[in-house]
Amino acid sequence: MYEDLKDATGIVAGFPIYFGAVSGQGKILLDRLYPMVGNQFQPRFPGKKVVTVFAQANPDSKLFADAMESTHNFFKLCGWEILENLLIYGDVVPGFTLSQELLEMAYEAGKRLV
Ligand SMILES: Cc1cc2nc3c(=O)[nH]c(=O)nc-3n(C[C@H](O)[C@H](O)[C@H](O)COP(=O)(O)O)c2cc1C
Repeated sequence: MYEDLKDATGIVAGFPIYFGAVSGQGKILLDRLYPMVGNQFQPRFPGKKVVTVFAQANPDSKLFADAMESTHNFFKLCGWEILENLLIYGDVVPGFTLSQELLEMAYEAGKRLV
């Protein structure tokens, strides 16, 4: 992960919401960002661009805003810019299709990443 992160200019990170918070695997990724900052919390590899993707079953798109904000704060601590936050929410069952609006947001975010 560190080799990939060190060389990356853009990062896309996905986080399912489990029991009101990012999943355990997502939290491990965030915890392991610790070496991205130095002793005084100064960013060691600043300037990267980040797109986050969250998924939740609940239809209230604002319900887990705190979890998203705290996740973004980890990336910001690393000196990285959040370009876009893509939220998939509601009835995420098999056969579920993403809205045209979200697809366009993802496409535009992808263009800004490269
Ligand atoms: C253990 C578990 C807990 C979940 N908790 C929530 C929750 O608190 N709120 C919610 O809206 N969705 C919750 N969900 C639904 C997931 O966020 C949603 O299905 C998401 O698309 C799962 O992504 P995944 O397929 O990558 O695991 C939960 C799903 C699982 C498996």
